[in-house]
Amino acid sequence: MNIENNVELEMQEKVKSFANLMMMYGCAIREVKTKLEVLDDEFSVRYKRNPIATIKSRIKKPASIYRKLKKYGLEPTEENILTGLHDVAGVRVICSFIDDIYMVAALLANQDDITVLKVKDYIKEPKENGYRSYHMIVEVPVFFSRGKTPMKVEIQIRTIAMDFWASLEHQLRYKKNIENVEGHEEISAKLAECADTIAQTDRQMQEIKRMIGEFNDLS
Ligand code: GTP
Ligand code: MG
Repeated sequence: MNIENNVELEMQEKVKSFANLMMMYGCAIREVKTKLEVLDDEFSVRYKRNPIATIKSRIKKPASIYRKLKKYGLEPTEENILTGLHDVAGVRVICSFIDDIYMVAALLANQDDITVLKVKDYIKEPKENGYRSYHMIVEVPVFFSRGKTPMKVEIQIRTIAMDFWASLEHQLRYKKNIENVEGHEEISAKLAECADTIAQTDRQMQEIKRMIGEFNDLS
């Protein structure tokens, strides 16, 4: 009976500390989102246009957290989640133009409470399958009653067109497990071709904006 009570108490503690951790990641997401919204608001007043079309966010599901820790050979502890995982908190920023991606990334990286831990530029170097996006892992301090905690957030910045491709590719690849489908090489080649077409369109839209900007001061 005593042992059962102890186990139950221990479980309750674990659940409480996990909920607390997820709350902390939720706050880190809010901090990053607010920074992005501030930049977008300022830009829209100054230049009468919004570089950011949409901001989405998500917290990694407990099952995915557990799976990833296991993959890295880590015990499921609060400490291991905080130090070992970098994508528990995720923010996706959808921009209008390619230039906006680099502008938003630079403005964010320049803020003195943001530490950039890692950058992967899949726009300059697209993945073999055609995936394009600018990825940053940042650390942002969040102020709680017991003091401030640096929290990691994965930020993916991409154009509307890149997001369109990535969303559909994700649906096709992850749900249907393309590798097991007959003729998957042809499917992959087609997907990569679509990504190239989309990238070409993104570059053309950027060029059109530049041409109009010269007359209209759209910047
Ligand atoms: P993960 O272990 O999958 O998180 O990869 P990683 O730590 O090596 O990071 P990476 O920056 O390569 O990818 C992180 C995230 O980018 C993924 O979780 C996806 O959300 C997105 N991503 C990366 N590659 C692809 C891709 O080929 N297709 C799509 N649709 N999304 C991708
Ligand atoms: Mg991930």
